[in-house]
Amino acid sequence: MDLYEYQARDLFAAHGVPVLPGAVANTPEEAKATAEKIGNQVVIKAQVKTGGRGKAGGVKLAQTPDEAAEKAEAILGLDIKGHITRRVLVAEASDIAEEYYFSFLLDRANRTFLAMASAEGGVEIEQLAVERPEALAKIPVDAINGVDKAKAVEILTAGKFPEKVIDEAADVVVKLWETFVSEDATLVEVNPLVRDPQDKIIALDGKVTLDENASFRQPGHEALVDKDAENPLEAKAKAKDLNYVKLDGEVGIIGNGAGLVMSTLDVVAYAGEKHGGVKPANFLDIGGGASAEVMAAGLDVILNDTDVKSVFVNVFGGITACDAVANGIVEALKILGDEATKPLVVRLDGNNVVEGRQILADANHPLVTVVDTMDNAADKAAELAAAGA
Ligand SMILES: Nc1ncnc2c1ncn2[C@@H]1O[C@H](COP(=O)(O)OP(=O)(O)OP(=O)(O)O)[C@@H](O)[C@H]1O
Ligand SMILES: [Mg+2]
Repeated sequence: MDLYEYQARDLFAAHGVPVLPGAVANTPEEAKATAEKIGNQVVIKAQVKTGGRGKAGGVKLAQTPDEAAEKAEAILGLDIKGHITRRVLVAEASDIAEEYYFSFLLDRANRTFLAMASAEGGVEIEQLAVERPEALAKIPVDAINGVDKAKAVEILTAGKFPEKVIDEAADVVVKLWETFVSEDATLVEVNPLVRDPQDKIIALDGKVTLDENASFRQPGHEALVDKDAENPLEAKAKAKDLNYVKLDGEVGIIGNGAGLVMSTLDVVAYAGEKHGGVKPANFLDIGGGASAEVMAAGLDVILNDTDVKSVFVNVFGGITACDAVANGIVEALKILGDEATKPLVVRLDGNNVVEGRQILADANHPLVTVVDTMDNAADKAAELAAAGA
């Protein structure tokens, strides 16, 4: 999960990383009130989860509270690379002597953590990384040893930070590492990390990505989720612990096992070409032990997707045999009652397949069509979706 800058700023502050006073504002009036409280020049910064805000006109200086309201008015609603600005951060403006770059991240390719540092930070960092990669130090960080002051000094020295700031900046780097570890982040980036004219080191911008695999031990992170920006179907699926991803087609998909679901998407997309170009509407893996409740929860999410015109249930009976899955489908349709309104194509194979198909035949539900093979079932589901579209 990517955080907004103001959320990253709050985490930094909680871990002792120096930041400037500021608060998030939803309206020009709130921006004005915050500027009054700060009682100094402020910067108004678009809160969107993308980079390059400054260049897009999303970061503006304001001398007075009235000007803060004016600038906030101009930035709220601004479209930055397809992200509409709904909030701004109002932060005290700092005098800047120098801008540096610093980040910790998970380097998946090299199976390590990585620190990146450069004395030449600021809005052109991407260009610097391409044109003069030697100016951006990349130092691996051992997960067990972590980052103590000596390691921080090593990283900053490699990044060619000026001698006189290394000691203070190293303390900040150790705190950024503490933030990275204790918040289970996969990215903590500060650009710019600045030196002010009094040689104080301050984090003026922050990007943090949290590892959602760790959410079970990070109860505080739930509050950081931006509910407004979440897809409502994905939110509903998440609440039911389903492995669901919304896609933009018309054929709802339910399968057991990620590999089977992935290949189901391919087969449906291929079959869809013959039926007016219909496509899979989602990824949904209900996993190995698919009970009736899980099947019902999955169907409930998919049937409530207004894009869905037909549903393809593709199950390979393993530990949970086909008869149990068939009972699950029948029970799920009972649970859903009138809510189930779209045609279901079911393909069962594997353990107890004969019993499973018999159960579906006996139930004789008007919405259910049982098809023997995956290819034929995909074709049927695509045909029904095209007819319903
Ligand atoms: N509080 C502040 N006081 C003074 N100047 C600031 C302040 N915050 C940002 N700036 C200036 O604005 C520039 C851009 O700000 P920032 O780094 O937050 O946005 P950005 O880099 O354009 O956006 P992104 O990091 O999303 O690419 C900074 O490099 C800095 O020069
Ligand atoms: Mg920045």
